[in-house]
Amino acid sequence: MKRKIIITDDGSSSLELLDVKEQYHSTFGAIQEAQFVYLKNGLKHFINCHNAKSISVLEMGFGTGLNAFLTFLLSEEERININYTGIEAFPLNADEVSQLNYVEQLKVKEYASVFGRFHNIKHNKQIQITPNFRLTLNTGSIEEYEALPQFDVIYFDAFGPAIQPELWTIAIFKKMYNCLLPQGVLVTYSAKGQVRRNMQKVGFKVERLTGPPGKREMLRATKP
Ligand SMILES: C[S@@+](CC[C@H](N)C(=O)[O-])C[C@H]1O[C@@H](n2cnc3c(N)ncnc32)[C@H](O)[C@@H]1O
Repeated sequence: MKRKIIITDDGSSSLELLDVKEQYHSTFGAIQEAQFVYLKNGLKHFINCHNAKSISVLEMGFGTGLNAFLTFLLSEEERININYTGIEAFPLNADEVSQLNYVEQLKVKEYASVFGRFHNIKHNKQIQITPNFRLTLNTGSIEEYEALPQFDVIYFDAFGPAIQPELWTIAIFKKMYNCLLPQGVLVTYSAKGQVRRNMQKVGFKVERLTGPPGKREMLRATKP
C-alpha cells in the first residue's frame, strides 16, 4: 500500500496509508500516544508492579521504530535491561526512515545512529545495541510468528480493527497470550468492545484505562 510521511499535532512524524487514510499513530501526537499507551501504561506499569530490572518486550507492528526507540531511551535512563523483539511485515524503506523526526523532537542527537541502526538489522538476528538493550526484528507476519512464552510486555500496535479485523481476533490474542509469561501485560490503543471481549475469551484480565489525549479509552490485558 502507498504511504506518506505526515506530521502529527505534537510535532512528531508518522505515516499514513493513502488508500485507506489510516495513520501509524494518533494524529493528536505520535510521541505523545506512544509515551502514554506503551511506555506509561505498559512498560513502566510492569516495572512498578514487579520492581523489574530485566524485561522482555514484544511489539506487534514495529513500523517506524518509535516505540522501540522510546523503550531504548528508558533503558538508558533507568539502567534497565531490555530484550526487545519487533514484528513487522512491511518494513519502512531508507527514504521513509530518513524523514522521521524523532531524534530531533526528543532532543537526543547523541542517539541518532542508534535509531538508524534499528532499521538496518537482519531478519531474526539478535543485536546488542547497548549493554542495556538488545533488539531482534522479525520481518514476517504475526500470523506466521511462532508463539513461545517468553515476554513480559506486549505492545499491540496493529492498524485499527476496521482496517485489519483479522489481527484483532481470538486466534491472534490466543497467540499473544501464549507469548506472555504469567503476570505479563499487553497494551493497545484500541478500546473496542469486541476487541476487549476477544481478549477476555482467551483468558486475559482486561482493564479499560483512560486513553491518551484525543482518545477516550485504551486497553491493558494481563495474563493471570
Ligand atoms: C499502526 S502501525 C504501528 C506502527 C509502529 N508501532 C510505529 O510506532 O510506527 C501498524 C504496523 O503493523 C504492521 N503490520 C500490518 N500487518 C501486519 C502483520 N500481519 N504482521 C506484522 N506486522 C503487520 C504495519 O506494517 C505497521 O507497521
